[in-house]
Amino acid sequence: MELLSQIDKNNIPKHVAIIMDGNGRWAKQQGENRVFGHHEGVNSVREIVEACGEIGVKYLTLYAFSTENWNRPKEEVDALMELLVATISMETPNLNQKGVRLQAIGDIKSLPLSCQKELQESIDITSANSRVTLILALSYSSKWEITNAVKKIAEEVKSGKLNPDDISSKMIENNLSTINYPDPELMIRTSGEHRISNFLLWQLAYAEFYFTEVLWPDFRKQEFYKAILAYQNRERRFGLTSEQLTTN
Ligand code: IPE
Ligand code: IPE
Ligand code: MG
Repeated sequence: MELLSQIDKNNIPKHVAIIMDGNGRWAKQQGENRVFGHHEGVNSVREIVEACGEIGVKYLTLYAFSTENWNRPKEEVDALMELLVATISMETPNLNQKGVRLQAIGDIKSLPLSCQKELQESIDITSANSRVTLILALSYSSKWEITNAVKKIAEEVKSGKLNPDDISSKMIENNLSTINYPDPELMIRTSGEHRISNFLLWQLAYAEFYFTEVLWPDFRKQEFYKAILAYQNRERRFGLTSEQLTTN
């Protein structure tokens, strides 16, 4: 049976987060350089964003560039930044047409000015869309984000506005860059790596993890549907017993 038709439309995760990994290895398999893989990866992004709109995923966070990725060879970093500018500029009309609102999390100020400008433009142009919110994690790392949150809260304590006893998990969440989004219910990582690589450590506390050997440039709609189906077959217990879930 077709995968799409097996998906339960009443149990679609609101927010899916993806570590898009394996572009370099994909390119190598084709005898090409790593950047070729990043270019092909854009086609997967387009398909997955579209699939989210079609099945009703409201938030999609894509890990596009980590804080640690700055340490890659300069040619690759430069190519990734150029690709980002070119892609955002080219895809904005398409995002608008599909009702996609663009957002970004991460240390955006560390990106080249041309990237910041293109990004902000697209964020503004798509701001009224409501079908899918596409959140790009750029120059992002979770430890960076949590450290910033701690600094902001510490400032409030220092200035006497906040008592340390009143620090709550909600308050920490309110100081993360994801303040306006629900936590992801599903986290997907492609390319066979089984690690989290500094991505949404706090927000993924109760997410279901889905790992696939498929490299990101080959991760298209059918692979996404497989991940959604796997998610729908999980029992999310949140610390309860299975029996409690069925009787409640
Ligand atoms: C993911 O693919 C894209 C980025 C991290 C920007 P990689 O570039 O990490 O590809 P592999 O893991 O080397 O194959
Ligand atoms: C994680 O991929 C970051 C992104 C997908 C942007 P990496 O390929 O950089 O992760 P590690 O270093 O292999 O864990
Ligand atoms: Mg990688």
